[in-house]
Amino acid sequence: MKAFQVLFMLLLTAAVADGQSFHLGKCQQPSVQEDFDVTRYMGTWYEIEKLPAIFERGKCNQATYSLLADGTVKVHNSELLPNGKINSIEGVAKVKNSSQPAILTVSFFKGVPDGPYWVLSTDYQSYSLVYSCFRLVWDVISQLHDELASAGVNLNRLTVSDQTGCDQTKGMK
Ligand SMILES: *[C@@H]1O[C@H](CO)[C@@H](O)[C@H](O)[C@H]1NC(C)=O
Repeated sequence: MKAFQVLFMLLLTAAVADGQSFHLGKCQQPSVQEDFDVTRYMGTWYEIEKLPAIFERGKCNQATYSLLADGTVKVHNSELLPNGKINSIEGVAKVKNSSQPAILTVSFFKGVPDGPYWVLSTDYQSYSLVYSCFRLVWDVISQLHDELASAGVNLNRLTVSDQTGCDQTKGMK
């Protein structure tokens, strides 16, 4: 089973979240997977862990990547929400600079800024470590926190994504 871990580095422009290990300042530039082969990366990946857990809403999070004719990658993310509904979003991932194939940017829809997707390390089969660093203002974080809290989600700093009881979402598109 393909499983991935996402490290979201949130850069706050205004304040530091208490109890959370957010960084202020610039995004790190970690080294990425050498000679990344996007073709071998295609398929469905199950999320095992995310840091921090701020974006965690549902469970059974998975991402399916498929190659498009123009060389870009179709991204299909889905999760099972606490209310039992499946939430999914589609986007397109692109390599901006062909000499850095492990550094992709994902765009989901117009008006939403592109998100970075850096493949730090992967064996293409069982694991992938993904790094995504971007800036969020404090208001957005608070809003997300409120949404999460009202959905009854416990705001832990690091949680393991729940991949149990996912039968109904297996192979979901
Ligand atoms: C692409 O990446 C190479 C290697 O890191 C770098 O030297 C080059 O300036 C980059 N090109 C662009 C257009 O950013």
